[in-house]
Amino acid sequence: MKIELTVNGERREADVWGGESLLFALREQLGLSGSKNACEQGECGSCSVLLDGKLVCSCLVLAAQADGHHVRTVEGLAADGGLHPVQEAFVEAGAVQCGFCTPGLIMATVDLLDRVPSPTDDEIREALSGNLCRCTGYQKIFDAVKAVAGR
Ligand code: FES
Ligand code: FES
Repeated sequence: MKIELTVNGERREADVWGGESLLFALREQLGLSGSKNACEQGECGSCSVLLDGKLVCSCLVLAAQADGHHVRTVEGLAADGGLHPVQEAFVEAGAVQCGFCTPGLIMATVDLLDRVPSPTDDEIREALSGNLCRCTGYQKIFDAVKAVAGR
């Protein structure tokens, strides 16, 4: 089936099968490989995107469900050749190691700061609790979110 959706402000089309995930369509059909496929079970958050402004695991959303909707991925954050402030904060804090979890954590942070510009420590932990990282021990990620939230 053909779907039409807006991805990072751009109208896109894809030909998907009924059981195809939004994550698969983004990565394999639309060439947006920033969202990562780690578990495909909604457990790790590495595939997180904003669907009509709501944070979702794109591995759990059917591509067909995104028909006619707006999707924002990590590729849509950087503007004018510069990193998004959240991306900058992750780099500055050393919150990126292998980087596999990073796009999902960046999207979860963008979502948090859109909703709660000055989150408490608990709100940060809660917002990032759906995103798994096997490298950093989470402290530097937490530091990055604290830093950018204070700007
Ligand atoms: S790949 Fe979607 S939650 Fe892990
Ligand atoms: S930086 Fe490697 S999984 Fe998070």
